[in-house]
Amino acid sequence: MKAAVLKAFGTPLAVETVPDPALGTGEVIVDVAAIRVLGYAHEVFSGQRRYLMDLPMIPGPGGIGRVRATGPDATHLAVGDWVSCDPTVRSRDDLVSPDIILQGLTAGSEAALRLQKYFHDGSFAEQVRVPTENVTRIGTIDAAAAPLWCALGTLLVPYGGFLAANLRAGETALVNGATGTFGSAAVAVAVAMGASCVIATGRNERALKDLARRFGDRVRTVKILGDEEIDRRHIVEAAPAPIDCVLDLLPPMATALQVRAALMTVRPYGRVVLMGGVGMAGGVGLELDYAWLMRNCVTIIGKWMYPPDATPRMVSLIRSGLVKLDDFEVTAFSLDDANKAVAHAAANAGPFKMTVIRPSDP
Ligand SMILES: NC(=O)c1ccc[n+]([C@@H]2O[C@H](COP(=O)([O-])OP(=O)(O)OC[C@H]3O[C@@H](n4cnc5c(N)ncnc54)[C@H](OP(=O)(O)O)[C@@H]3O)[C@@H](O)[C@H]2O)c1
Repeated sequence: MKAAVLKAFGTPLAVETVPDPALGTGEVIVDVAAIRVLGYAHEVFSGQRRYLMDLPMIPGPGGIGRVRATGPDATHLAVGDWVSCDPTVRSRDDLVSPDIILQGLTAGSEAALRLQKYFHDGSFAEQVRVPTENVTRIGTIDAAAAPLWCALGTLLVPYGGFLAANLRAGETALVNGATGTFGSAAVAVAVAMGASCVIATGRNERALKDLARRFGDRVRTVKILGDEEIDRRHIVEAAPAPIDCVLDLLPPMATALQVRAALMTVRPYGRVVLMGGVGMAGGVGLELDYAWLMRNCVTIIGKWMYPPDATPRMVSLIRSGLVKLDDFEVTAFSLDDANKAVAHAAANAGPFKMTVIRPSDP
């Protein structure tokens, strides 16, 4: 099959012919119709993000495609089914504390590198081999819609955060970093989950205005100025009710102060979910007042990705019209143009924008 291979950090992807993946037990082979390219893929491939990748590797986390072959443990999947591949692969031999890899992107720890040795390659390829439990049927779709369905990969991240915080209909949610790729998806997800109000923060006024236009009265935007006290006051003033749940999705370049400004707006007994990259590029840590946390019974949750059942639930939200894929604007590239796709994704990251590679036309 044809694939784009990352041979060493800092080198372009090499598009070449590689052996087809071989089916073992407990796996599915999927013909990849579309795979999203992350806006920060160039930082991963350059080595800047210091992601744990056993190179050479075919990168590409997740994707949309059709089942080509199933292993003996599949009881529902059939050849030809349209599916979403979840890159969140968990080790199966410790259910309490599994190691996690994002297939085709990174191992979560040194220990998880062993898992990455087996589920080694991602979806910048005509075929990908995925653990059976990571393959979810999305129902019949038009092949032309496969790139749009890649939005699942963006929507599922904040959905995982809100599920972890048990966001309930009628609650007030705050999305910190709402003008980014995942943050804007978080606003869409919170609205779909029934939040009565979503406070969306960011520095980019144009992107904030666009969020208000898309989602109407249930979204209130707050322009972040960079002064912790003032930003916190503006957030609280914008909220029509105490803030039940804060979801942070700021990138590594942002500071812990930006996180704390939003985090400390949560009401007593509220929940805070940390999903961003703050601290990964260094800088001061997130200092929190012990007594404030304790007296206010605040729950802080760190969350990487989402639980396995999030995908079928998100498919239902999309099928019901509560989450609209049409919100996303897609630019598609062929596998031969994988490097152009990576450059395009970097230059065009942002709310409701997706760059996608289309490796095959199954
Ligand atoms: N936990 C998980 O499962 C998970 C999964 C996927 C991604 N992530 C993480 O989520 C984070 C966000 O990713 P993304 O792709 O949404 O990023 P992104 O598109 O770059 O958005 C981040 C937003 O943060 C804001 N920001 C605030 N301070 C900034 C600063 N100093 N420099 C740059 N931007 C700043 C920017 O909006 P304004 O300019 O308007 O402020 C920007 O739009 C990343 O760290 C990524 O690793 C986590």
